[in-house]
Amino acid sequence: MRVEQFDTVILGAGAAGMMCAIYAASRGGRVLVVDHAKAPGEKIRISGGGRCNFTNIGARAENFISGNRHFAKSALGRYTPRDFLDLVEKHDIPWHEKTLGQLFCDRSAKDIIQMLRNEMEQAKVEMRLRTTLEAIDRTESGFVLRLGGDWPGAITARNFVVACGGKSIPKMGATGHGYQLAERFGLSVTPTRPALVPLTFGEDVLAGFREISGISADAVVKVGKARFEEAILFTHRGMSGPAILQISSYWREKQPIRICLEPTVDIAERLIEMKQAFPRRTLPTALAEILPKRLAAYLAQTNGWSGILGEQADRKLAAIAEGLKNWELYPTGTEGYRTAEVTLGGVDTAGLESKTMEAKSVPGLYFIGEVVDVTGWLGGYNFQWAWSSGWAAGTAI
Ligand code: FDA
Repeated sequence: MRVEQFDTVILGAGAAGMMCAIYAASRGGRVLVVDHAKAPGEKIRISGGGRCNFTNIGARAENFISGNRHFAKSALGRYTPRDFLDLVEKHDIPWHEKTLGQLFCDRSAKDIIQMLRNEMEQAKVEMRLRTTLEAIDRTESGFVLRLGGDWPGAITARNFVVACGGKSIPKMGATGHGYQLAERFGLSVTPTRPALVPLTFGEDVLAGFREISGISADAVVKVGKARFEEAILFTHRGMSGPAILQISSYWREKQPIRICLEPTVDIAERLIEMKQAFPRRTLPTALAEILPKRLAAYLAQTNGWSGILGEQADRKLAAIAEGLKNWELYPTGTEGYRTAEVTLGGVDTAGLESKTMEAKSVPGLYFIGEVVDVTGWLGGYNFQWAWSSGWAAGTAI
């Protein structure tokens, strides 16, 4: 049987894998990217509502969750959001900053995929789609792989890079295969769970949420010391919106989340002012001046806040305001990998070199992107990790 020889084989033509391929091939090696999907960068294509929030200009290690909070510093510091933006601008891709440093394509996420494809082509990267990894073994000089699918055959490579992402959105080809490969080579994997994911609630709470489904409000949402100030959204299944997605990465079963509604408004002061100016105004109507109408009605009804303002003691109004500033809710779970944007946990960073992403115990074996135990906040941070870690491995190979 003919055995093809490559310098580097990368499993996964996602954000991290393509980035790594570009830089590994630019250094002269023969590089092959293998993916079981029919197209590269499928998650890029659907990201950011189709516009790809491709980086966050302020991305730093503090915006990531990892067993080792220092691990991401090296790659993020050496390949920065500005470096990726330079690449985007080199390809004349129009972009804009939306909010909180989040950079999006003006036109389409497909611009980013095309950019990466063009760079790969220029660097002479070979890509085999609809191709699976059937077996892999270590040899004295690297690895021997058996591929299946559209490109069956045997391949040898000095370096093998695992860039096959996490478990989120299995419908889009996520397999969790990268974790099995890590364990197969003796690396440990920290527990994984869905992150950046909507939270679900018991039927008692959901019955009410259905009345306010589709309503969003500004809020600060907290779990323990984690705190995010962004919008929340009530849905038929529970709660979503950026602040909820962010806090889901920190929430654990049986913990409450605390919600401060309208954080920039002094609700007690507003209610007391309204009481003086409009004593005959009902409490639900007064609350509807501060909160979205249906949310105000729902909260007034579930908490029994009725009557007119003139009849309420200031103390009572202050207590209502406190209830809105410190609303405690107990989620029962998350929507799971079906809708999670990312996977928390993954290949333990203790087994990897932070500068190169190479496994300390297996020379030539690399892990990059989401498969590693480095998970970013919502807002372009996860792609920046994919670019930075892909670049770190690609330039080290
Ligand atoms: P990624 O998942 O991109 O790529 C892995 C590749 O490996 C895939 O092509 C897959 O087909 C392939 N693969 C998997 N198993 C395989 C196997 N066994 N054999 C062969 N191939 C295999 N982040 C962000 O920063 N900004 C954003 O706007 C968004 N938006 C967003 C929206 C949605 C809906 C989701 C689900 C996620 C996001 N994200 C995001 C997160 C972002 O998509 C994610 O962090 C990166 O895609 C991770 O890049 P990787 O290259 O590590 O994995």
